[in-house]
Amino acid sequence: MRKNIVAGNWKMNLNRQDGIALVEDVLGKLPADNKTHVIFAPSFVYLHKVAKMCADTPKVVAASQDCSSNEKGAFTGEVSASMISSCKARYVVLGHSERRANFTETNDQLKAKVGQAFASDLKVIFCCGESLVQRESGVHFEWIKSQISESLFHLSADEFKKIVIAYEPIWAIGTGVTASTSQAQEIHAFIRNLLAEKYGKEVAESTSILYGGSCKPSNAKELFASQDIDGGLIGGASLKADDFLAITQSF
Ligand code: PGA
Repeated sequence: MRKNIVAGNWKMNLNRQDGIALVEDVLGKLPADNKTHVIFAPSFVYLHKVAKMCADTPKVVAASQDCSSNEKGAFTGEVSASMISSCKARYVVLGHSERRANFTETNDQLKAKVGQAFASDLKVIFCCGESLVQRESGVHFEWIKSQISESLFHLSADEFKKIVIAYEPIWAIGTGVTASTSQAQEIHAFIRNLLAEKYGKEVAESTSILYGGSCKPSNAKELFASQDIDGGLIGGASLKADDFLAITQSF
């Protein structure tokens, strides 16, 4: 069956020392029989260090928060998927709403990034989600469908097995407002249904769909108990070892 995953998206937080201390703390306290797949997504700058720290712990790996849509060349400041892969990261987070909003990432660009990630053997955590205005005007289902279909539906069923979806309503990110369990479950079921229509039941049932947006120890258990919520993409609460740990053990 599908994996339960808790991924910590550190965003532009924590310097190298603080990041290392956090990973040490989490790895040291993770139960020996931990069943959750745990992912740290730190800054590129110390991604290699974090990936190396995770290497000996089963089910714990590192991810980058983005990658270039180009393979290599004259793109000053960009980081390619192959560079990320060579740093031993296993995943790349793509299409976070902050990147879509602040760096005008389009569905087409994300499609190219997915291609680069796969060419370098990285799995993808693909983010989607609607704004409050979109939800209130009732276009959120169509919006999420277009985000997923325009960036991912060129993939084969086999390729799609390397995709994890993260549903992150923009109005819940960093705001302290969490989607209610039923609001989240409704979208997760919608996404799974979309995948079933496109790829069939087997792919849909084996794809992990994570919730993100003010997920914390106090609400993770209830969210993760929902049929179609397979874990979380955690921002703020991933910066504190004990909170992040508690979320990883909330299944
Ligand atoms: P948050 O962020 O947990 O701080 O709301 C989630 C995210 O943006 O991935």
